[in-house]
Amino acid sequence: MAEYSIEIEHLVKKFGSLVAVNDINLSIKKGEIFGLLGPNGAGKSTTINMILGLLTPNSGKILVNGIDMQKNPDVAKKQIGIVTQETVVEAELTAEQNLMIFGKLYHIPEPELQKDINFALELSDLTKFKHSYAGTFSGGMKRRLEVSKALMHAPQVLLLDEPTTGLDVQNRSGIWDLLRKINKEQNVTILMTTQYLEEADQLCNRIGIIDHGKLIALGTPAELRQKIGVGSIIEVSADREDLQRVAKAFDKAGLEPKILSNKVTASGGSNATKKIEALVKEISTMKISIHNISMHEPTIDDVFLKLTGSEVRDTAGEYTSTRGSFMAGRGR
Ligand SMILES: Nc1ncnc2c1ncn2[C@@H]1O[C@H](COP(=O)(O)OP(=O)(O)OP(=O)(O)O)[C@@H](O)[C@H]1O
Ligand SMILES: [Mg+2]
Repeated sequence: MAEYSIEIEHLVKKFGSLVAVNDINLSIKKGEIFGLLGPNGAGKSTTINMILGLLTPNSGKILVNGIDMQKNPDVAKKQIGIVTQETVVEAELTAEQNLMIFGKLYHIPEPELQKDINFALELSDLTKFKHSYAGTFSGGMKRRLEVSKALMHAPQVLLLDEPTTGLDVQNRSGIWDLLRKINKEQNVTILMTTQYLEEADQLCNRIGIIDHGKLIALGTPAELRQKIGVGSIIEVSADREDLQRVAKAFDKAGLEPKILSNKVTASGGSNATKKIEALVKEISTMKISIHNISMHEPTIDDVFLKLTGSEVRDTAGEYTSTRGSFMAGRGR
């Protein structure tokens, strides 16, 4: 038995002169919920589509449960359940009929099929909607139906491409619960992509951060946070035209500032509280009007900022969280 559900070695995909996936090495352990985190155009879907056998790599190797995707695609593909980035439920069919079609595609025999459908509906909390048309479902219900559809052939590995993008908070947490349940109760290994830092942080056992086709960090959320170093993150928000002067105050207080669109941030180091006192003093002598000063424990947002030097948008789009960990729109 292979120890890993998915092994990727030196994976490369080019589209013309664009290197969409640039020499990625990655092993997903059996039983993990692994999150591939990255902004628009980072290469998440391209990576997933190669693992699914939908795209052919320029070079590199992919093993699914030890089976080589290039050499033995039919057997390798059977190991995987897929939830693609675009929703693909049949609106004109009921939940049951959607699952039925899929089961028939996989040649599940009739008596078993009905049992499997009922189980899938139960799992995704859609039993009440068995005979309702999928077209009437909310975004979250459609997603849950897709997830249960992807599990109809009892795969050991589930791949999901941005399963919660565009969903509201409630529907998103419904998907998280479902994925946790599938992982725990069905022993399904999960590889998912996400643009949401908070999602990766809360749901995934390990995270790989991908940017410009390269894997730039890999580890548990706690390990990634440690990359920031000790101490809290200090943030000061102010009018855009004042940010340079705020950064100067950071300098004077012995902090290394990073200027973002509406704030200046720095890692507080081992004596963050003392530093913030010094910073407040500097700012008050400069007579800058400040919107907010705050200190928080490092998050995955801060890791991303440190690694890429790019800002994570914190107010855009339909997604809002306590800290607004939203990366969509950071596209190039
Ligand atoms: N079929 C294609 N032909 C040409 N370029 C492509 C193709 N598919 C993807 N790309 C490019 O490859 C890069 C990676 O795209 P990919 O779709 O993998 O990103 P992503 O991380 O999934 O982004 P998103 O969050 O927007 O879904 C992008 O620059 C994209 O424009
Ligand atoms: Mg994508």
